[in-house]
Amino acid sequence: MKSPSQVVIFGAAGDLALRKLLPALASLSAKSQPAEGFSVVGVSRREKTDAQFRAEIAEAMPPELQAAWATLAPRVSYLSGDVGSVEDLDRLSAALDALPGGRETGRLFYLSLKPDLFANAITNLASKGLLHMAEGEKVAWRRVVVEKPFGHDLPSAVALNRHVHTHLKEFQVYRIDHYLGKETVQNILGFRFHNAIFEPLWNRDHVELVQITVAEELGMERGRAAYYDGTGALRDMLQNHMLQVLSLIAMEPPASLDAKSVRAQKVAVLEALRPPDRADMKTDCVRARYREGVVRDQQVPGYLDEEGVPPGSSTETYVAVRCEIDTWRWSGVPILLRHGKRMKKRFTEVQVQFKTPPIQLFNKPEGLSDDEFRRKLRAGDLCQIRPNVLTLSIQPREAVHLSFGVKRPGPAMVMHDAELSFDYQNVFGSSSAPAYERLLLDALLGDATLFLRGDEIEASWRFADAMQAAWQGADAPPLREYDAGSWGPDEAQQLFHGCEGGWTRG
Ligand code: BG6
Repeated sequence: MKSPSQVVIFGAAGDLALRKLLPALASLSAKSQPAEGFSVVGVSRREKTDAQFRAEIAEAMPPELQAAWATLAPRVSYLSGDVGSVEDLDRLSAALDALPGGRETGRLFYLSLKPDLFANAITNLASKGLLHMAEGEKVAWRRVVVEKPFGHDLPSAVALNRHVHTHLKEFQVYRIDHYLGKETVQNILGFRFHNAIFEPLWNRDHVELVQITVAEELGMERGRAAYYDGTGALRDMLQNHMLQVLSLIAMEPPASLDAKSVRAQKVAVLEALRPPDRADMKTDCVRARYREGVVRDQQVPGYLDEEGVPPGSSTETYVAVRCEIDTWRWSGVPILLRHGKRMKKRFTEVQVQFKTPPIQLFNKPEGLSDDEFRRKLRAGDLCQIRPNVLTLSIQPREAVHLSFGVKRPGPAMVMHDAELSFDYQNVFGSSSAPAYERLLLDALLGDATLFLRGDEIEASWRFADAMQAAWQGADAPPLREYDAGSWGPDEAQQLFHGCEGGWTRG
């Protein structure tokens, strides 16, 4: 933020702008003393003055950022306008030229808009010359941040990518997935590729399974049902945030940390990700919807009774799937993904479960002979505990745990569960900066590593579309129900086979 730049937020009256983007900009400017010409312009259709806009922002700003906001506020202005109107864009263009630095500053256009407006917004900005820049331009750059969802299926994402590329070079496009801005998600790269001891184990020879959970307590607050009902759990969370986390867990080591190297390896994972075969969809996938229940001691309605949900809706609020990555590294390793709204507890977590030793020497149940013990283990009638599980807790606790067994003191050879733990809060004190803060800073600095490339999004949609298509056919898994505030439908436990264990509880 040391060189002058202008941030233009389209959809500035929306929830995302007020709750995430403007607080992130306030916090950033407090931390890094932005250059003279740094300005923020909010654009939305409603008529209001700069003062009214600033008052709305101040009201939504968390108490700890009020001081930061006070220093940013004079740099923030408002323009009432419609990105679909070329006249309004003329006014915007003139307003930007009149700001300190004028055309000679970098410009970041943030499309915090309804997804069906993205294409038109880009066409209109381009038609006014607002996106034009020379390749390699370091000062008067032009970049566009496109919010999620980028398309609602593969064909629409391909069409939007094509449209984007008629007006912008790929290096100008910043497709956002806010999970990549989370400190603990970035730590997946650091953890894997800085600590050489894990890499030799990170493959099908040593890993029994990988499970990823994104559990939320939230339901359809703040009138979200209108958007959510046409989307569902698979497309709202699994297709984007969860597959991003998975791609970092499963990718090959990149040659460097630049955007090109990292994104190429992530795409390779997504392209090799296989949903269950149609015939296995009923056994390898569970979809469900919450009924009424109790979340954090509050009685909450079922999905069908949420305001804005059409009667007879069959949208899923929970999805769990067992799938595979067809690469040399991962072939045959079950990948279990689970996401649900209105679950018992909010947490996001990755678990890498390592295989048990080939021979079990310990913890033989009393009264069983050695032979019986061996026979039962081999037949799967007795499960060995999985002593080695690596847990990467993404949120709300930001932590890493590695479990292992130690001998319990005493004459008997009995193994006891132990754990090595690291907790961000204990070591670094404060909690991490919000995801949008990091991502906005990167976009201003021109680092696209934590943003999605066009083909990455298309590969994710290919996976989601294959599941969605199978859900329409005769082999579709039935839409189950679970109580709000529960761990989700019991049937999801069946995605684990034999002695593989079960879903983590955060
Ligand atoms: C959004 C989804 O992208 O991510 C929401 O549209 C979801 O439905 C949210 O609640 C979760 O984000 P976080 O950072 O709170 O886990």
